[in-house]
Amino acid sequence: MKELDIRGDRPYKMLIEPGLLPEAGKYISHAPGGSRAFVLTDSTVASLPSMPLATIYRSLTEAGYQVSTCQLPAGESSKNPTAYLDVVSMMADRGLQPTDILVALGGGMIGDLGGFAAATYMRGIKCVQIPTTFLAAVDSSVGGKTAIDLPQGKNLIGAFWEPSLVLCDPDLLLTLPATVFMDGCAETIKYGILKDPEIIALLRQALEKIPERSAKTSDSADNATDLLCQVIARAVTTKEFYVHGDVTDKGKRGFLNLGHLLGHAIEAWSCFSLSHGQSVAMGMVLEARGCAALGLTSSDTADEIRELVNDFGFAIDPPCTVQDILPYLVHDKRIRNNSIGLIVPDSIGNCHMEPYPADELEKFARLGFGEQ
Ligand code: GLY
Repeated sequence: MKELDIRGDRPYKMLIEPGLLPEAGKYISHAPGGSRAFVLTDSTVASLPSMPLATIYRSLTEAGYQVSTCQLPAGESSKNPTAYLDVVSMMADRGLQPTDILVALGGGMIGDLGGFAAATYMRGIKCVQIPTTFLAAVDSSVGGKTAIDLPQGKNLIGAFWEPSLVLCDPDLLLTLPATVFMDGCAETIKYGILKDPEIIALLRQALEKIPERSAKTSDSADNATDLLCQVIARAVTTKEFYVHGDVTDKGKRGFLNLGHLLGHAIEAWSCFSLSHGQSVAMGMVLEARGCAALGLTSSDTADEIRELVNDFGFAIDPPCTVQDILPYLVHDKRIRNNSIGLIVPDSIGNCHMEPYPADELEKFARLGFGEQ
């Protein structure tokens, strides 16, 4: 078992192990404790043939918990204030006390909404994150960003609320549809460009071994799971490096926004029909090109990033113009005092942050898009 110590404002552990889910109750009762468990999940997870909801229900019951479950329709549109109020009302109906726990079993939507419900119910109860997507495993389940959306924008109501435990069972991730899996690949490539180039080679090896992509033997599945455990552990170690000491995102956590400046704007312009991973992958390519045009990085590094992202099968040419994304770009939540921290790749594995005037973001985007 891989056991990572996450040094947040309140330290917690992430456990990574194939077949961990049936054992979850044991680990949860040992760490966060409590006597009632409220399991929040979505319709996709609840209907998976591997039956993770039934498994966690049984495991928590065997560990002595009084368990209730709540299922939301899958998709970002469930991350809304009405669904949030339904969830916390149900927690109250089930008699959850401040010492009890919320278990968020799902991808980013469930982790974000569940984390926010845990952060606010009775001014905060413990939360256990159990990611069921690769993206949630390498990113959103760790670091304590929780939120719901408003019609005016994504994640506009939220809180920093770190989980008390993160349990990752990579067996859950191997059956994901390729496009969902690729979302996690984009964030993993980001960690490679930021700080850990070796993770990119490991990710490549894992992808080659995933049964759907190679001969379906149990050996290749075992190898894939083992490689995936290594990738997740390295990815989260890199994320933890940037979050440690800056949980509330005032400084070095900003490095994690590599590719997100232009990527988020493209994702929002597409009304989220482009996935987060695809958008961030494209964002990394365009931002590197913009940085090269500003003379902040070499064109060799920008080309290397372009080839790398292309090699993984991501689209790299934007489906929109700079004009299309401008409204989203100028409302970026990371603009402070009319300045934004550009994350500049110096080479694969080394980046620095450069203050950049927010009123020149259009110029940066034009350079990135290769527009005049
Ligand atoms: N996903 C970026 C962060 O957690 O800061």
